[in-house]
Amino acid sequence: MDKSGKKIRIAIFASGAGSNARVIISTLKEVEDAEVALVVCNKAGAGVINIARNENIEVLLIERERFFKGDGYIPFLKETKVDLIVLAGFLWKIPDQMIGAYRNRIINIHPALLPKFGGKGMYGQAVHEAVIQNKESESGITIHLVDEHYDHGDVIFQARCAVSPDDTAETLSKKVQHLEHRHYPEQILNLISEIKNRAT
Ligand code: GRF
Repeated sequence: MDKSGKKIRIAIFASGAGSNARVIISTLKEVEDAEVALVVCNKAGAGVINIARNENIEVLLIERERFFKGDGYIPFLKETKVDLIVLAGFLWKIPDQMIGAYRNRIINIHPALLPKFGGKGMYGQAVHEAVIQNKESESGITIHLVDEHYDHGDVIFQARCAVSPDDTAETLSKKVQHLEHRHYPEQILNLISEIKNRAT
């Protein structure tokens, strides 16, 4: 709850399989002061849609043109009383206007150790392939606030894993995914408590 005693309402933006969304939803079901109010998705048929529907969470399927135009979906998010936006495999860049409306209230997870291997086009297997090609000895996850630039906002948390010479993009992605599921829910809980304590 925030200072007025109301629950912090979260929108998860995701467009993929939704494995992170799944662990976040199940973690937040156990807490009293926050709830996943909405899942926002830009891809009909994405796995995350079924995950949300099975949990009776409202799904908003968004259109590109409206998302990037003017205030886009901001009025809808405000009407839905969304306090915090959690990006979990959402590939569109968040428009500046939405960042302004939710300053320090948008969190993302990146499957590498930023500032390395970030930026436009760096998502999914491309990230892990680049890490391996560069012969990095470690990779990991970066959880950060979202600002107007790709993969750039303040870093909240990083966790590392070793990259062995026989790792492929696929084996590395499993190691990284393990870190994501272990740490993203707990970092979201931390941000929720911080938001609750912020003067509004
Ligand atoms: C994760 O690797 C996350 O780091 C990235 O997108 C992927 C989403 O996977 N931002 P999933 O849909 O949660 O399984």
